[in-house]
Amino acid sequence: MPDDATLILEGVERKFPTLVGSEGEKAIDIAALRGSTGYITLDPGFVNTGSCESKITFIDGEKGILRYRGIPLDQLADNSSFLETAMLVLNGSLPSSGELDAFTSRVTESALIPEEMRAMLDHFPRNAHPMCVLGALTNALAAFYPHVSATSSAEEIDLAAARLIATVSTIATFTYKRSIGEAVVYPDASLSYSENFLNMMFSSPVSSYERDPDIVRALEMLLIMHVDHEQNCSASSVRLVGSSHANLYAAITAGIAALWGPLHGGANQAVMDMLGDIHRSGKSPSTFIEMAKDKSNSFRLSGFGHRVYKNYDPRARIIKSVCTKVLQKQAGKDPLLDIAVNLEAEVLKDEYFIKRKLYPNVDFYSGLLYKAMGIPTDMFTVLFAIGRMPGWIAQWKEMVSNPANKIGRPRQVYTGNNETAYTPIKKR
Ligand code: SDX
Repeated sequence: MPDDATLILEGVERKFPTLVGSEGEKAIDIAALRGSTGYITLDPGFVNTGSCESKITFIDGEKGILRYRGIPLDQLADNSSFLETAMLVLNGSLPSSGELDAFTSRVTESALIPEEMRAMLDHFPRNAHPMCVLGALTNALAAFYPHVSATSSAEEIDLAAARLIATVSTIATFTYKRSIGEAVVYPDASLSYSENFLNMMFSSPVSSYERDPDIVRALEMLLIMHVDHEQNCSASSVRLVGSSHANLYAAITAGIAALWGPLHGGANQAVMDMLGDIHRSGKSPSTFIEMAKDKSNSFRLSGFGHRVYKNYDPRARIIKSVCTKVLQKQAGKDPLLDIAVNLEAEVLKDEYFIKRKLYPNVDFYSGLLYKAMGIPTDMFTVLFAIGRMPGWIAQWKEMVSNPANKIGRPRQVYTGNNETAYTPIKKR
């Protein structure tokens, strides 16, 4: 064990315990800091602050390593399915074939949403952003299904988990169909999870959808890539809301809301908007790179940089290879792919980005693959939410099952007015 940390404050020396994670990550346990010193720490964005111990996902940002329950992501991408990876993350180990079959059946049987909820879709504007609708209807699940929170049984939590994983796809595809004025396509029990998603998106009562096995496998891989990513903004939002013992659907809704931001899951849509802008401008990517480096300009290159990865995001590497393969099959190659490849090449040799260790992240290539599948840009972050659903639930389960868990309530350093008397309005 490493030595205790020694802190000398106002001439007084105090020791704080340290701990080392199973992959060598080191931390100072400051639980006793305020009580013993009167001081708190201040760390905007929690850049240096751990909120919990966790056994779900390990990321080594310097080495570009990502493992779910210890299994490297590339091995899961090559060998697993989305629902199998979901069980790995939710339960801590790979399921037996019987367990996977049972879970798959439960997800299939949970895929319908109440008809009253489907009718709710008729009252949103057709051009409502699908993330807005997804958040609203996910929260509304609490109106139709039993309350699930920290005090629920394992069986109730498992059932709610399957229901969330199943209905997020149904809500997403129903929302898309509503936005284009088409009748919804109900889930088909004979199809796999990804086949069902594509069928609900693109088939219709009057035209069947030919499922390309390469596209189905590419979607499975994309969903696997997004399953979890330790204490990112949306997972931390799920934990914080869940820590008040609000119900699981409300906690997941908080994750959806956080993911929507263009600095987080909304980046995949922002990347496509950026690549489209570059294409329409007819200018070279270097023009946009210079804009992103200009501190007087708020423009940033979407799809680059990461709070944790200071190396190539392993997910981006896998997605790029699948993307290239899938697009090569397409008739007219997507000009945005060429722009993306050229932009990446320029960035990776630019001193500004090298110095700041800014590499392509998961969002840089995923949009090109979604586009190749025919998925509209404003649905890209919804696809991210579908993939991340098992991870959010796993993070929530880990938090509520920890007897030492407390309600999340950060401190602050107050810098406002000192005591000030009330001034009657006649004197203002
Ligand atoms: C996801 O946390 C996760 O795990 C998230 C995620 C997950 O799976 O859950 O991985 C998914 O959200 C991926 C990130 C998607 N977002 C984007 O692609 C948006 C563009 N990226 C940036 O906004 C930024 O890189 C963040 C938000 C991702 C990270 O921001 P940080 O860690 O707060 O870093 P920072 O803003 O302090 O940047 C450090 C420096 C700054 O320059 P200096 O002040 O040092 O001169 O790098 C610069 C920044 O200006 N910088 C960029 C940049 N990203 C950082 N400059 C230009 N373009 C960029 N994209």
